[in-house]
Amino acid sequence: MEQLPLFLTDKPESKEAYRRIIAETADAVAASFEDSTAYSGPTPQELKELIKVKEILPESGLGWQTVLERLKKQILPNFLRTPSTDYMAHLHSPATIESIASELVLSTFNQSMDSWDQSPVATEIEVEVIKMLCSLYGFKPESGADGVFTSGGSQSNQTAIILARDWFCNTKLNYDVKKHGLPENFRKLRMYTSEISHFSMEKSAHILGLGYESVVKVPVDKQKRMDTAALAALIEADVKNGNIPFLVVATIGTTDFGSIDQVSEIAPLCSKYGMWLHADAAYGSGVILSQKYKQRIAGLELCDSITVDFHKMFLLPISSSAVLVKDGSTFDALTIHADYLNRTEDEEDGYTNLVDKSLQTTRRFDALKVWVAFQTRGKDGWNKIISTSMENAAYLYEKLLNDGDFAVVTKPEISSVVFRLKGGDEINKKVRRKLIHGHGVVIGQTVSDGFVCLKFTLLNPLITHDKLDSLVELIRKLGKTDV
Ligand SMILES: Cc1ncc(COP(=O)(O)O)c(C=O)c1O
Repeated sequence: MEQLPLFLTDKPESKEAYRRIIAETADAVAASFEDSTAYSGPTPQELKELIKVKEILPESGLGWQTVLERLKKQILPNFLRTPSTDYMAHLHSPATIESIASELVLSTFNQSMDSWDQSPVATEIEVEVIKMLCSLYGFKPESGADGVFTSGGSQSNQTAIILARDWFCNTKLNYDVKKHGLPENFRKLRMYTSEISHFSMEKSAHILGLGYESVVKVPVDKQKRMDTAALAALIEADVKNGNIPFLVVATIGTTDFGSIDQVSEIAPLCSKYGMWLHADAAYGSGVILSQKYKQRIAGLELCDSITVDFHKMFLLPISSSAVLVKDGSTFDALTIHADYLNRTEDEEDGYTNLVDKSLQTTRRFDALKVWVAFQTRGKDGWNKIISTSMENAAYLYEKLLNDGDFAVVTKPEISSVVFRLKGGDEINKKVRRKLIHGHGVVIGQTVSDGFVCLKFTLLNPLITHDKLDSLVELIRKLGKTDV
């Protein structure tokens, strides 16, 4: 059995092994894209059988070639192929080829972003990418705007909620949460978000010691946007009742519908009551790169913080997300010095330790993927990608609206279409399962207004109108055939 070098080093034999193994892996992955469907079809039980090996940790190593063969036989054919135009289930995108190459680079060097001495050039790149992003969304780095990469939208939202809570307590209640823990009247703190916002709001409220009861769910209108009049009434009633509103989270692209809360209406309310305004633009942040549609997310610069996810509309590998903050000094909530890592004098001498802004300590160099993908495709390329997915959603909506077999929930503002086959919840559920196991087609399922619905999340710009037409016909046919 071949003795594999441990690492890529300056030695010729290690370079040769690195090149060969990466090439063999790339060949195996490419070969596994045998057909155009998204999934090979096995049920959970069948998969459990298929992936069985005698031992995952054998007494003696089996060597790379044996493991590669197992990978080829047991795992690669059964991966979900997100680049397939038959995949449109979730806000989980295919990854562009150049961003996969970036993953190779960042994993090979394995930088950790916590301190400058672990990631010198990576730190400087992340700082530059954050500056560019702040400017893109209307925040001014020269006036103190800042941000940090995170593990995803949930962590970006959580970070923003922590900063909002600490800022509010510091500046409005003259109380230092970082030092003393929650204030005595913490049960009165309230944050507001639409009833269809992402569950990371409640999860964060729980983790922050505020509990679900601190999250006030604001009703949505017919277009699934936060009802701003209802928001105003809820805040006012809370103030009258002695509660303490500190934060509104506007969703810029709800998870199911892609609906966009109206920041220009919400921002004045936040100013009036001295609240922080966070935009959860995990989904909708990509719209900024569509020349035709970017107006739909106008007003983000009015917010105090913004969640931007690159592993959704921006088609980058998981994970890649950032939280941007208008006033970077609020990151002080997360800064704690350790003698071994982020000494205070480092900062004075110009050494940036990004751990000062992050919930994580060891952290991936995910900013590299943005640096590579933005430069590779440029504004033109990204405009085409984002606009195409949005136009696909508009096309599908019109088609379903005029088809008597289907009910469509709401006009898409981004790239998701939620609809159902008329005929009941069970039919819709069965159709989705038949699509996965019988046709390799993976679409979403959710509930809207009490009905089980199907969902197309159209992030992949390779999806064509013809493809959408044929999937609609397939769904109609499967709905009519008995299971
Ligand atoms: C609106 C919204 N916010 C936040 C998230 C969480 O993002 P992540 O899965 O990257 O943690 C999602 C996930 O789909 C989302 O749709």
